[in-house]
Amino acid sequence: MVKIDTVVVIGLGVMGKNLALNILDKKFRVIGYDVNQTKRNEISHSQYNSIKELEDLKSYNQNPVAVFLMLPADKISDDYISTVFPLLHPESVVIDGGNSHFKDSIRRVQTFAERNYQYLGVGISGGAEGALKGPSMMIGGHKTSYEKLAHIFNEIGASFEEKSCARYVGASGAGHFVKMIHNGIEYAIMQSIAEIYTVLKTSRSFIPLEISEVFQSWQDSHLDSYLLRISAEIIAHKEQNEQGFTLDLIKDQAKHKGTGKWVSKFAFDLGVPINGINAALESRYLSSDKALRFKIDGIYNSEKQILLSNNESRQSLIQWSKELLELNYILSFAQGISLIQKGSIDFNLNVQLPEVLAAWMNGCIIECKFISALLEIYKKQPALEHLLLEDSIAKNVKKLQYNSRKLVAHAISNHIPLNVSVSNISYFDYLKTLHSSANLIQAQRDYFGQHGFEKIDKDGIFHL
Ligand code: 6PG
Repeated sequence: MVKIDTVVVIGLGVMGKNLALNILDKKFRVIGYDVNQTKRNEISHSQYNSIKELEDLKSYNQNPVAVFLMLPADKISDDYISTVFPLLHPESVVIDGGNSHFKDSIRRVQTFAERNYQYLGVGISGGAEGALKGPSMMIGGHKTSYEKLAHIFNEIGASFEEKSCARYVGASGAGHFVKMIHNGIEYAIMQSIAEIYTVLKTSRSFIPLEISEVFQSWQDSHLDSYLLRISAEIIAHKEQNEQGFTLDLIKDQAKHKGTGKWVSKFAFDLGVPINGINAALESRYLSSDKALRFKIDGIYNSEKQILLSNNESRQSLIQWSKELLELNYILSFAQGISLIQKGSIDFNLNVQLPEVLAAWMNGCIIECKFISALLEIYKKQPALEHLLLEDSIAKNVKKLQYNSRKLVAHAISNHIPLNVSVSNISYFDYLKTLHSSANLIQAQRDYFGQHGFEKIDKDGIFHL
């Protein structure tokens, strides 16, 4: 097999440029292309060449190369990729490193394979800094294409205890599929941290520096994570020469680029409950209409006086918050993993869960200590039906639930919205409910629509 040692990076925006610098740092040769000349020229390195036109790739076609497409998903089209392949040596591999939809990724791997072109869909996480220093990479496609480039992925990806976090996670589309669900978990954890921040800030008036310190002190537990670390830093951040905290000056209306919405749509289509992840997306929607929130607050504001009756101790609130956050981490991963398992079966993605967790050990946005425990669990029990069924998790969840419930009850009685936390606890409660209210739903459906219902004492379909 020819060893590929040249990488073409197409799209030299922040992510593309940083990835190119990372690849150069690992002693591979890089050819950069961007329509914008300034971006092409921003990199200077003895192993770097830029090309003005895509056509110029032809002059490098004596040997196979790896081509990273680092373009926004909506700028990558099948026509564009079809233009690139004929310019390359036939053994070259094109890698889509953008946030493409996994169904596009499946289609492309298959379509291009029919034309003898090799294409991998790779989910890349870690933002701009990750791309530069080593991102987490979730690689999907034909294994033979991956094997040609494994040495490059291993060098440029993040690592954890000397093991690469650039992992081949499954068949065509699996890389972008896993990255999509990574983002759903990302939304849920971000919102969970924001909820805990709000509880502490609103009830018992913790000042930002205290909350930041509390978050830092939790880094000695399973909660040790990238998102908690950056949140501690953000909360304490002040603008230069300013007294106040930057966070208080940032508009409280969350935006999104759409990958979290893909997760919820996908979960609805598959019928997989991911209550907490959905609630995180809806929290962003709820935040966006500030004018409406202002009007509604005007009507109900006076009711908030009940806050004054709050008398939980600050120490209890900190402890309960820690436990609730840990429960939210567990349930966010549990929901994401359920969706990976079901999606992998329905779309023949053959996702290897231990490989996914190994990819998430470092370099990605949802990196956290808890993933080591998950990795051990899924290495031993790759076919585990649901995370809540595992012994060590069950023991921990049983313990965490008491104080978590106290914090949620405290928040509800103090008018503090905890969408993800409440949804996660309801998810857990529903899953452990032996006799649910769904019998009434079935009877109602039959009453007005004659849809019929099944009974526990007899086989068949019945009506009221
Ligand atoms: C990552 C992030 C990243 C994310 C964007 C947009 O893993 O590096 O997940 O890829 O997609 O930051 O996120 P929003 O949907 O919040 O805009």
